Amino acid sequence: MQRILTGDRPTGPLHLGHFVGSLRNRVKLQNQYETYIIVADIQALTTHWETPELIRTNVREVTLDNIAAGLDPEKVSIFVQSMVPQIAELTVLFGLYTSVSRLKHNPTIKTEAKQYGFTDMTYGFLGYPVSQAADILFCRANLVPVGEDQLPHVEVTRFVARRFNELYGEVFPEPRAMVSEISRLIGLDGNTKMSKSLGNAIYLKDEPAEIKKKVMSAVTDPARIHRTDPGHPEICTIFAYHKAFNSSEVPEIESSCRKGTIGCVACKKNLINKLEETLAPIRERRVRFDKPGVVEDILFEGTNRAIKAGEKTMGLAREAMHTDYWKES
Ligand code: TRP
Repeated sequence: MQRILTGDRPTGPLHLGHFVGSLRNRVKLQNQYETYIIVADIQALTTHWETPELIRTNVREVTLDNIAAGLDPEKVSIFVQSMVPQIAELTVLFGLYTSVSRLKHNPTIKTEAKQYGFTDMTYGFLGYPVSQAADILFCRANLVPVGEDQLPHVEVTRFVARRFNELYGEVFPEPRAMVSEISRLIGLDGNTKMSKSLGNAIYLKDEPAEIKKKVMSAVTDPARIHRTDPGHPEICTIFAYHKAFNSSEVPEIESSCRKGTIGCVACKKNLINKLEETLAPIRERRVRFDKPGVVEDILFEGTNRAIKAGEKTMGLAREAMHTDYWKES
């Protein structure tokens, strides 16, 4: 069976952007692939090193979000990055032959550095894509379902795997990225990206009243002042959400918006119902698993399975690199 590795940084609860970009694919593919889900606490600390307690709280939240979204913890291994030592070991090895200029030119790193105001980047932040390569390769994953902002990191991973194999011998597959059709969801304010830091997100754990409030106040087409004004769905936030959560009605909504025969309020109410169809079962699953010790047990089991996979890979890597000093010959 081929393997999937993907995951999230535990910096806050997951939102619809995560769901559309990656979570939905994980759930769909969990029966076809051996699936590993990383809760990337160390990566989160590359931007939040001053608030480790925040990261700790969110490890549980993000795990619960993944399970609530439909991942089956019996089949899927959900694990904590910092508890798998082989990931740290591989990060060091991969850093031996990955140049600093390759990392400096990574567009996602550049965007994030600007966003966080990092003028003098730390070694850990600049190098996190190398660590992410280790996240993906410790279990020799073949497929990485991610949002499009992660593509540069998967490219680094492919380089890391290819170069390791050239230098020392075939150990790693060159994993492929899988980007969903709608790989980015726009924010409630019409900003290009839904994000916690921009405060324009609907969270998987939001209650119906909260979702209603958020959708009703979302930005639509500013040209529509009267209900009968012709609309421009291509620039409307709500239309983008219909595409992601209500695809069957998209042609109809598009034409009645353009003709001005459906008003924004009705269009929003329709969306709220469709979002509920997706989010109500997620909310129910959350309640089922949100009990003392349950999430902790799932992470413990998943992490142990990840460590087993990591030990196997490290054995192969050490052998290839001739660093298996105490191994009996
Ligand atoms: N960088 C990803 C994000 O910001 C999280 C992540 C860490 C990840 N390690 C990974 C994603 C490995 C896919 C594969 O969301």
